[in-house]
Amino acid sequence: MLSLVLCCVLGLNTILAEKAPRMELNDGNKIPTVALGTGRMTAGGTQNDEVRDAVLWAIEAGYRHIDTAAIYGDEEEVGQGIADAVQKGIVTREELFVTTKLWNDKHARDLVVPALRESLKRLNLDYVDLYLVHFPIAVKSDRSPDNIDYLETWAGMEEAKELGLTKSIGVSNFNQTQIDRLVAKSKVKPAVNQVEVNPTLTQEPLVSHCQNLGIAVMAYSPFGFLVARKDREAPPPRADDPVLVRMAQKYGKTTAQIVLRYLIERGLIPIPKSTNKERIAQNIDLFDFKLTKEEIDTISLFNKNLRVVSTPFWKNYPNYPF
Ligand SMILES: *[C@@H]1O[C@H](CO)[C@@H](O)[C@H](O)[C@H]1NC(C)=O
Repeated sequence: MLSLVLCCVLGLNTILAEKAPRMELNDGNKIPTVALGTGRMTAGGTQNDEVRDAVLWAIEAGYRHIDTAAIYGDEEEVGQGIADAVQKGIVTREELFVTTKLWNDKHARDLVVPALRESLKRLNLDYVDLYLVHFPIAVKSDRSPDNIDYLETWAGMEEAKELGLTKSIGVSNFNQTQIDRLVAKSKVKPAVNQVEVNPTLTQEPLVSHCQNLGIAVMAYSPFGFLVARKDREAPPPRADDPVLVRMAQKYGKTTAQIVLRYLIERGLIPIPKSTNKERIAQNIDLFDFKLTKEEIDTISLFNKNLRVVSTPFWKNYPNYPF
């Protein structure tokens, strides 16, 4: 009975204000430092409904940043979740920060703005806050390699920003050499580089290089192999790793929250992905504790330069970044 009452009280939407502090980007826009990740759970049609709910629950839990991409195939559901939240009066569009990404087959300069307009149509928005070049690699519509310089793609991104279709522009999966070339050869510096960062792929050199250039780093797959429940071969740390469990007990948090806080302390913007209401709320409940320098260094020792997201099929394509 008590648990039933508790459940209903909690279920009566404790709607929270913006939870993650914002960070100023190099173009003056302010990015919320935790984003809800979407995509990859969206292969089947029915699962896309989960994205709509997840977006609404995230906004109710205090997220103001939602991350999607054209290739995820869920921009419509993300847009519906946003519309639900706005309609319920929880937020206005202006209070939200929406990120989406240009896919590899739209790298020709003249295809960038139309691709963004298509994304906006699916999202049912007039603008996004951040538009990213998803990979430095260009492919043709038959997925064979295309020889388009990402500087050409970037000129299209600059045009999209000038047109007001996106407030900020950035890249994803660019390595240090590519970042340097882009910064040296373009009018508008990328505001963001979104790359994989987690305890088994700590990326210190790339992260500090970007941060020193004033480029914010968003961290995808922030849990690394922590959540690889079925893969017994996955390297540590797993969710029950004693080192993380000790920290979790010390702070009264979960090991997942410890890992997200580790990324926050490194000045990163983690993009935890979940469609579970409770975990969505946990994944942004990170701002009432702080790890010590020693604990941060201890977590970094898990590094193996090992990717959760690898793309071996592009290995021989021009501009392969890994
Ligand atoms: C980045 O990618 C390019 C293109 O594949 C490659 O030539 C370069 O060596 C890479 N740089 C780093 C730092 O990995």
